[in-house]
Amino acid sequence: MITRKSQAEIAKMRSAGRIVAEVLALIEESLEPGISTADLDRLAERHIRSAKGTPSFLGYLGGRRYDATHPNAYPASTCISLDHEIVHGIPGNRELKAGQIVSVDVGVIYDGWHGDGARTFICGGLDAGSPVARRLVETTRLSLMAGIAAATAGHRIGDISAAVEDIAKEGGYGIIRQYVGHGIGTSMHEDPQVPNFRSRSPGVELAPGHCLAIEPMLVVGSEETDVLDDNWTVVTRDRSLAAHFEHTIAVTPTGPEILTTV
Ligand code: MF3
Ligand code: CO
Repeated sequence: MITRKSQAEIAKMRSAGRIVAEVLALIEESLEPGISTADLDRLAERHIRSAKGTPSFLGYLGGRRYDATHPNAYPASTCISLDHEIVHGIPGNRELKAGQIVSVDVGVIYDGWHGDGARTFICGGLDAGSPVARRLVETTRLSLMAGIAAATAGHRIGDISAAVEDIAKEGGYGIIRQYVGHGIGTSMHEDPQVPNFRSRSPGVELAPGHCLAIEPMLVVGSEETDVLDDNWTVVTRDRSLAAHFEHTIAVTPTGPEILTTV
């Protein structure tokens, strides 16, 4: 079932989304060589709680299930995925190195409503990255922006998918198929799915009040993925580089509104 959110509900999602964007900006400022991914996660959790939000990833079990005490529950407030890690990297004592690709995904619940966003950084700044890494990161960001631009009332989910796919293919990148964007609202993951590639069906027609997390994951090499023994970290099977950008957006009568922004 795909729900349409009211103005008041979208206002709450805007508050959640603002906290997500603030966390990503804070992490960007803190991305110096030598900092650990657990340090970044601590900064994120502290900011989320000080803004009266709840980290939506902590204790997540998949679907709509949470149980922080479950051995398979996600153990952190952010996902931080390095280099060939695509998504769902678990923060830990690894220290960042200049030039490394750092994909950070953050989810926040505010007053019962979710925001979900991700950005890929290069440790030490874009200039510290290799030309291969920089172009991958920039193209992934542009593919997200193209997908968002297609998210207008009257278009279909498939129009978003096609817009993302076109930018990715133009750049010569692979698109992860195993993981897709999603509806979002009172749960992190709601209907519909938002693939980053054309699929059989054109998908549902977009209408004002639809809220979506659009999240392209692009790779330099093969689209095959593996999950590491920690049961979370998704990597490229060929260990080629990956990037991930995500915004939560609302479809409005006048076009898409990005909710994960300050
Ligand atoms: N943010 C991811 C998504 O967009 C979900 C993170 S999985 C979690 O779907 F376990 F970290 F919560
Ligand atoms: Co998401």
